[in-house]
Amino acid sequence: MANFLWVLFGIIIIAISLGTISLKNQFIKELNREPYVSDSAAAAPTVSTDTAPAAATVSTDAATAVTTNSLAKPASYATCAACHGQNAEGMKPMNAPALAGQSDWYISTQLHHFKKGIRGKAPGDITGMQMQGMSVMLTDEQIKELSGYLSSLPATKVTKTVEGDIEKGKTLYQNCLACHGADGAGMVALKSPALTGQHDWYIENQLLGFKKEYRGYHEEDIQGKIMQGSAKMFIQTDQDAKDLAAYIMTLNEK
Ligand code: HEC
Ligand code: HEC
Repeated sequence: MANFLWVLFGIIIIAISLGTISLKNQFIKELNREPYVSDSAAAAPTVSTDTAPAAATVSTDAATAVTTNSLAKPASYATCAACHGQNAEGMKPMNAPALAGQSDWYISTQLHHFKKGIRGKAPGDITGMQMQGMSVMLTDEQIKELSGYLSSLPATKVTKTVEGDIEKGKTLYQNCLACHGADGAGMVALKSPALTGQHDWYIENQLLGFKKEYRGYHEEDIQGKIMQGSAKMFIQTDQDAKDLAAYIMTLNEK
C-alpha cells in the first residue's frame, strides 16, 4: 500500500512538471519567433503592413465587416465617451486609453475579458476595476459592434507626456518587436495589439501593471500571461517602462 502511494505521488509530480514544461515551451516558442519585418514575404498573409493597424486586419469573429471607412457611431458608445472621449482618443484624467484604430479582435477580446473578470479584477488595479465595472452591462452584440466601430476610426495623434531615454528604450524594444512588430503595429497571429496610436502614459501604466500581475492573473488569460512574462523578464526598473514608452512614441512618426 505504501509503495503504491509513492508511485502515485511520483506520477503526480511528473504530470505537474510536464505541464509546466509545456507552458514554458509555448512561451519560449513565442519569444523565439523570427522578428517581423514589414516587407518579409513570409509574414505577408496574416500581418497588416499598414501603419493604421486595425483597418486592414480581419476580424476573427467576422460578422462585422471592417473597412477602412469609419462606421457609424453605435448608441452603445455613448457611455464610453465620458472616459474614452468622443472620438475614442483616450483621456488622461480618466486614465482611459485611446481605442480608435486598435484592432477589432483585440478590443473584442479585452471587453469579453473584462466582462468575465479575466481582466480588471486584480486587487489594487484601480483603473482596471473602473473599466471592469463598465463592461458587465455590454451584450455580445454590443461588443461586436463597438469593436468594429472603434477599429474603423483613424488612430489618435498622440503627443509626448512621458520623459524617457529614447535610445535606451530602442534597445529594450528589441525584446518586443518579435510580437508587436518593428513598427509597433501589432500582430494578429500572435494576438499582440498595436502600440502605435496609444498614449505613452497608458503604455507605461500597463507595462508596470503586467509586472504587478494586474493583467495575466487569470488562468484563461493566455495572452495576458505571455505579455506578463515578457514584462517581468525585460522591464527591470520603472525607468525601463518610461524609456520603452518614450521610444514607442517615436514609432508614430514613421
Ligand atoms: C469610467 C470610465 C470608463 C468608461 C465609462 C469606459 N471605460 Fe474603457 N477603460 C477605462 C480605463 C480606466 C481603462 C484602462 C484599464 C486599465 O488600466 O487596465 C479602460 C480600458 C478599456 C479597454 C482596453 C484597451 C486596451 O488597449 O487594452 C477597452 C477595449 C475599453 N476600455 C473599452 C470601453 C468601451 C467600449 C466602453 C463603453 C462601453 C468603455 N470602455 C467605457 C475607463 C472607462
Ligand atoms: C511573446 C510575445 C510578446 C512580447 C515579446 C511582448 N509582448 Fe506585449 N503583448 C503581447 C500580447 C499577446 C499582448 C496582449 C495581452 C492581452 O491580450 O491582454 C501584449 C500586450 C501589450 C501591451 C498592452 C497594450 C494595451 O493596449 O493594453 C503593451 C503596452 C505591450 N504589450 C508592450 C510590450 C513591450 C514594451 C514589450 C517588450 C518589453 C512587449 N510588449 C513584449 C505579446 C508580447
